[in-house]
Amino acid sequence: MAVRIKTEQEIALMREGGKRLAGVMARLKETALPGVSTGTLDELAERLMREAGGDPVFKGYRIPGVETAYPASICTSINDEVVHGIPQKNRMLASGDIVGIDIGMRWRGFVTDMAVTVGIGCIAPDALRLVTATREALDIGIAAVRPGAKIGDISHAVEQHLKKAGLGVIRDLAGHGVGHELHEEPLIPNFGHAGKGMELREGMAIAIEPMATLGGWRIALDDDEWTFRTADRSLAAHFEHTVAVTSDGYDVLTLIRA
Ligand code: MF3
Ligand code: CO
Repeated sequence: MAVRIKTEQEIALMREGGKRLAGVMARLKETALPGVSTGTLDELAERLMREAGGDPVFKGYRIPGVETAYPASICTSINDEVVHGIPQKNRMLASGDIVGIDIGMRWRGFVTDMAVTVGIGCIAPDALRLVTATREALDIGIAAVRPGAKIGDISHAVEQHLKKAGLGVIRDLAGHGVGHELHEEPLIPNFGHAGKGMELREGMAIAIEPMATLGGWRIALDDDEWTFRTADRSLAAHFEHTVAVTSDGYDVLTLIRA
């Protein structure tokens, strides 16, 4: 399938859906405290998405090669879990944990996707360094978005920032086009060469999602067939925004707006 360019009206719908999704994320972030279970976060997220008039797009989602449909509304990936951790009623957050919260919603037909990594209680200096640099890498990648730029410009900017911070850069997972479906073309890798790859065009909507570690880049899939964790069990962080390519730059769609 080719890249699906969105009209201004379609981007406007994604902007409204993304704003609502960001509102849900704000509630999840303030709820993620020591002693709260990831299952509780999942239940809250599903309720808030439905109250916002949307549907949790991860629930029941299938990816090629995986037998089971995704069983929850959000992903909660704790410590050495990189992405796609499955929320559990009996899995409590504890002070010192870092947890990636990844949420996606379909609203009036259009999908937006975002993730943050939050520290629970008091976290170690190295964990804070990992989370901070991965968040910065997302901002720096977004700043490379404009019509005429190449996907490699985003990839390179993200990779350089993560490497400068001494972090491992996940290579086997990537960002993606988003809108009609959760995963559309093109792929947005977190490593690459400036000036290379597909040219960005006005009306493209992409999810940029740096994933980094305090150790190596290799990942392993758990027996649950969903949870990816670092092969060396080092801590991992993940941030994601849905971004539209505009006539002169970018518009971050998954933000709380006035
Ligand atoms: N944000 C993640 C991604 O883009 C969420 C996918 S979880 C799934 O890959 F269950 F929906 F697959
Ligand atoms: Co995504």
